[in-house]
Amino acid sequence: MSTRRFMVWVNPGFTRMLSPKRWSVVKVFSVVVTIFLTWATVLVLSGSETIQRFRIKLIPSNDLIPATFNHKDLMSSRDLVNNLPTDDELVQHLRNQNAALDPYLSDKLGVSGLGGPSPLLEVPDMSAEVPSDLPTPYRKVLILVEDTGAPLVLTLGQFFGQQRIDYKTLATKAELPRLTSVEDNSPKYSLFVFDDFVSYLNMPESKKRVLDEYCSYYRVGILALSQSARSGEIELFSDLKLKIQHRMKLQHYKLEPSSPIWRVGKPSAEYLEQLPSQEWSVFTGSHPTYRPLAYSTVAADWDGTKMDVNVTKYGCVVAIHDIGMRDKIQKIIIGYDISFWLNSIVGMDAITFLSNGNLGLTLDRFLQVDVDDMFVGKTGIRTLIKDADAMAASQEKIRKIVPGFKWVLGFSGGSFQTGNPEEAKGDQRMIEIADKFIWFDHMFKHEQPHLLNATHLRQSMASNMEFAQEKKIPVMRDYMVTPHHSGVYPVVDALFDAWVEERGVTCTSTEEYPRYVPHWERRGFIYKGVMVVPRQTCRLFTHINTFDEYQGGKEELDISIKGGYLFKVFLYTPIMIFMTHMSNYANDQLAQYSFEHVTEFVAQYTNLRMQTPPPVAIAKKYFSMYPDEVLPIWTNPCDYNKHMEIWPKEKSCDHFPSFVIVGPQKTGTTALHTFLEAHPSLKSSKKDPQYFEEVQFFNNKNYAYGIDWYMKHFDDAEKGVMQFEKSANYFDNEFTPQRMFALLPNAKIVIILAEPARRAYSWYQHLRSHEDPVVMNYTFFEVVSSTENSPRHLRDTRNRCLKPGEYSTHLTRWLKFYPKNQIFLVDGDQLNKDPIMTMNKLQKFIAVAPYIDYYKMLRFDKEKGFYCLVEQGCLSPSKGRKYVPMDAESQRLLKNHYAPHNAQLRTLLTDLDRPHPRWLMTNT
Ligand code: A3P
Repeated sequence: MSTRRFMVWVNPGFTRMLSPKRWSVVKVFSVVVTIFLTWATVLVLSGSETIQRFRIKLIPSNDLIPATFNHKDLMSSRDLVNNLPTDDELVQHLRNQNAALDPYLSDKLGVSGLGGPSPLLEVPDMSAEVPSDLPTPYRKVLILVEDTGAPLVLTLGQFFGQQRIDYKTLATKAELPRLTSVEDNSPKYSLFVFDDFVSYLNMPESKKRVLDEYCSYYRVGILALSQSARSGEIELFSDLKLKIQHRMKLQHYKLEPSSPIWRVGKPSAEYLEQLPSQEWSVFTGSHPTYRPLAYSTVAADWDGTKMDVNVTKYGCVVAIHDIGMRDKIQKIIIGYDISFWLNSIVGMDAITFLSNGNLGLTLDRFLQVDVDDMFVGKTGIRTLIKDADAMAASQEKIRKIVPGFKWVLGFSGGSFQTGNPEEAKGDQRMIEIADKFIWFDHMFKHEQPHLLNATHLRQSMASNMEFAQEKKIPVMRDYMVTPHHSGVYPVVDALFDAWVEERGVTCTSTEEYPRYVPHWERRGFIYKGVMVVPRQTCRLFTHINTFDEYQGGKEELDISIKGGYLFKVFLYTPIMIFMTHMSNYANDQLAQYSFEHVTEFVAQYTNLRMQTPPPVAIAKKYFSMYPDEVLPIWTNPCDYNKHMEIWPKEKSCDHFPSFVIVGPQKTGTTALHTFLEAHPSLKSSKKDPQYFEEVQFFNNKNYAYGIDWYMKHFDDAEKGVMQFEKSANYFDNEFTPQRMFALLPNAKIVIILAEPARRAYSWYQHLRSHEDPVVMNYTFFEVVSSTENSPRHLRDTRNRCLKPGEYSTHLTRWLKFYPKNQIFLVDGDQLNKDPIMTMNKLQKFIAVAPYIDYYKMLRFDKEKGFYCLVEQGCLSPSKGRKYVPMDAESQRLLKNHYAPHNAQLRTLLTDLDRPHPRWLMTNT
């Protein structure tokens, strides 16, 4: 960086210090050293690329607010934008942000050493104790709130939710959760948020110490809002040298350009309107640790007598940055609700900065606006020639701000020129200027695919293409959309097959996965190779074609554009695909108006890099950003009316189980399944050629086949009959509880807990009987005693043998999704020795009628050594095998291995108020 770009404002305190009255030998010496070191610091820093990029600039320390609010000497906004760091550079920078802060300290302290102790002020060394290698990004936020039911909690949740930032909300008065992970002690949270700064200050000392130590050690910051004073209008925190004046009415808003936090926020932009509400807090800090982040001024109609004099004189600081000189914790406090759009911008940049770049990164905004139904619309509201031309003109205008922008038009040829004569000319005009736009095709007659059979569906697509060829419409092949999202989600196989086989479609978009609301929780998935990207809503629906028809009229539309709903979608959503319709471009040309103005507004106040690459590039970008979404989490169409409307009629909600035996393996799952099957009102899933009595849907590749595959395993409903399934691998599979809960939220879950060492040995014997190559070569002891240094195949076998028996871990995972009253725990010992009792209890739990007394159905078979069904006989010889008892060494090893897991299980069962299985009581 060149020295001339690195601006230093002389510290007035420093000037005072040079007064002859104060001189002494020591002071002269320290001043000389200070001057030298300051100069050296500037030289060092001026060579630093980091500093150049982040515009670290020093400001007067004796007053938080510059006397005159004059930014003409500061960096131009163009400089700032042109030099914005890339995302990677930002992460790197923020991770090393001590280096970025130290210039402040150097300036304040008059020392050059980066982070060295000050000869003038006792300020903590910002570089001390930083963990040498930072852990993998920990991307969670802990929000601490005064009252969990307050509306602000919802606002904060939405603020983080819309940015897809994982958060947890807790009452400030509750116990702090564990801040590091149990497994490896790594930090869990990368930011703490308080809905009221004062509640942070008022935390009980011991709790605050834990939080503060975590924050300073891991360089995790605190973001707080300031709420109205509990007592009076001015709060003075003299030990903090901070004053907060509440209940202010303000106008105008401006960011402080010298702050290093800006990324999304464009500091050159000024907002010259009245700010909402009379509940703003403004800050005055009299310590160099405080830096202003945003200013405002008192509203013209505000009652001046209530004001603090500094506020009138200098303007108001409405967001403040405490750079952590005293406690090594960076804090940003915002003087009003974060839902106000300028505060949202400050909040976003605060998140990135305070979390060391672990949260909220990209500045890229990919924008696609689909016009889903070109030519489809009622007479009287369709596009005319002027509207078609306005589409082309506004596209050009938007493109100046959003490189590559084009409207993406879907068409149904069957509706071409079906309006009045003027509208027919409008349609014709669209054809004449077709090559200005991107086109994708629909169904010819705008049919919903879930209502068509496979042949009809393909015919309709082919007819539309013939129409396109005849009209010379340049149709893009890889992107298609269906009317009313039909066939996309819930998926209709015939549609995906036709897309892939007939057209080579690789991407589409929908609002329906997993649900329509809330819009920020929509997600993407890939099915049969087609990338399905989530859409956003711009609130221009088919029936909203004039300003008056917009809910709240033009005024509301403008609010949405200027910092409201639509603006926020741009602010928070890196990949936006909006759905609009032909009539939104006719009449009052609402769509042109909305997108021209919103993109202008976004460009005016933010550094977001808007662009429109082709749809397939957008889809690829989406899945590169969110690779976890590739596989969908299937939900149940029967649970949601909107999905039922676009689900083929022949599908039935009967084809799902009421309860599921989830395992684990070798605990008696087959016995339980067989005994239940003998009940006249219970029906198991159909036998699968590959998995026999099991379905194995949620735990492996079958899940990718979709719910049609799963439903095929169940029959049509029979009155009074309950269906169920059993797959013993579900219990310990990482993904199953979440997936099962998404599809079967009301299902009851049956888990068998057998003594884990016995279970492990049974598993080993089972594999031996199947001549598994690994177990055939190793004794049981060799398997269970293998270590990290053992060959891979042996370690894998050991894990498969032992892991399912670590019951507390798996049960905890199930409880994250299913309420405890939907989970039934079977004592495996009891199932072996007294299945009659187990069956009778289980019947009550699943509430099956009629109740059958299993005493009449089961009898103990001495030869087999197990209970067998009176009518059907015993289980196959592969169940209840005879083998030599487990060796003593293995018994000892497994006892030790399972002891901590069993102890956790005991605690968990006690917490759940469930009886402990017999084997758990005797097993220490
Ligand atoms: P072993 O064969 O090692 O004795 P799963 O069906 O989950 O694979 O579990 C098999 C285990 O179920 C058997 O392990 C056996 O101990 C147990 N089991 C419980 N009740 C049984 C029964 N009535 N008949 C046969 N095995 C039973």
